[in-house]
Amino acid sequence: MGEGICDYTRFIVDLRRHMWLDGVETELRRLIWQIAVTGKYISAKIHESNRKLAGFQNLYGEEQLSLDRSSDEILKNQLQYSGFVREYASEEQDQVVEIGKGTEQYFVTADPLDGSSLVDTNLAIGTIIGIHKESIFARGRDSMVAALYITYGPLITMVYSAGKGAHEFVLNREGEYVLSQENITMKEKGSIYSPGGIRKDCSLGHCRFLEYLESERYKLRYSGGFVPDINQILIKRGGVFTYPAVQKSPNGKLRMLFELQPMAFIVEQAGGCATNGRDDILSLKIDELDQRSPVYIGSRFEVEKAKEFLSNSAA
Ligand code: AHG
Ligand code: MN
Ligand code: MN
Repeated sequence: MGEGICDYTRFIVDLRRHMWLDGVETELRRLIWQIAVTGKYISAKIHESNRKLAGFQNLYGEEQLSLDRSSDEILKNQLQYSGFVREYASEEQDQVVEIGKGTEQYFVTADPLDGSSLVDTNLAIGTIIGIHKESIFARGRDSMVAALYITYGPLITMVYSAGKGAHEFVLNREGEYVLSQENITMKEKGSIYSPGGIRKDCSLGHCRFLEYLESERYKLRYSGGFVPDINQILIKRGGVFTYPAVQKSPNGKLRMLFELQPMAFIVEQAGGCATNGRDDILSLKIDELDQRSPVYIGSRFEVEKAKEFLSNSAA
C-alpha cells in the first residue's frame, strides 16, 4: 500500500490524541469529538436521504430539505446529552434552544447542512460548527473558543481549530478521524477566487476587485457550497472567497453565526483573514440570530486588496 493518510505503517494520530497532545481543555476535547462523531451519522443520513423538500421553511424563508431538519435533529440530540452544551443555535431553528441544565460551559452554533441546494447534484456539502464559551450575542473574537467544519465529499474530512492552529482529519475505513494535515498555514497570496452573488447586482468597487483578480489570472473556483469552496482555499493555502453586498440584500447572503464566524475563526488560525469589506468578521458584534454580512475571506493579500477596491470606490 503506497504512502498515504491511512498508511498504518506510521504512528496514527487520531482526533482525540491530537487534541490531547495540543493541550485542548478536556470538556472542549470531548465536545469536539462528539460533534465529529455526529458527522458520521449526518453522512449516513445524506446517503439514505430522499433529497426531497420537507415542506417547511427556516427563519430565512428558505425551503428546508428533510435532510436539513434531520441533520439538525441529529446534532441537537447528540449535543443535548453531551453534558457540555448550555445552548444550541442553528440555522434550522427559529430561536436559541436551551439544551443543558444552565450550568454547562459551552454554547454551540450550527449550520447542520451547508449547501442544501447541491444535495441533488451530488456535489460536496458540509456541516459548520462554532463553539463559544459565553453568550453568542457578542463579538466572535471575545466569545469563540473553537470551530470546525466537516466536508462530505469523496472523502469525509474534518478541519478544526481550538485556537492552536487549524488541522485536517480524514475519516478512514475504520471510522477513525486520522490526522492528514497539521497546522495548515496559508500563503500571503493565492491563485483562486470564489465569487458568490450576481455580478450585475454588486457594487462598482466589488466588480473592479473581481476584474483585478481576473487581470491577474486568478482561476475561478465556485461550487455554491460554502464549505467546499472555503475548504479548497484553505487546502490550496490561498485565494479568496466572497459573497458581497448585493442590491436586494445589502448584508449579503451568508449568516454571521452559522457560517461566517466559524470559518473566519479557522481561516485566521491558518494565517488568513476575513472581513465584511471594512472590519474583521470576528470583531463584529452579533445582535440578531439571523444576522448576515458581506464577506471577503482567504489569504491576506487578496482580502486587503478587496478592502482597497471597496474603500476607493466608496470615496
Ligand atoms: P445553506 O445550504 O446552508 O443554506 O448555505 C448555502 C449558502 C452557502 O453554502 C453558499 O456559499 C451560498 O449559499 C451559495 O449561494 P448562491 O446559490 O446564491 O451562489
Ligand atoms: Mn450554509
Ligand atoms: Mn444550511
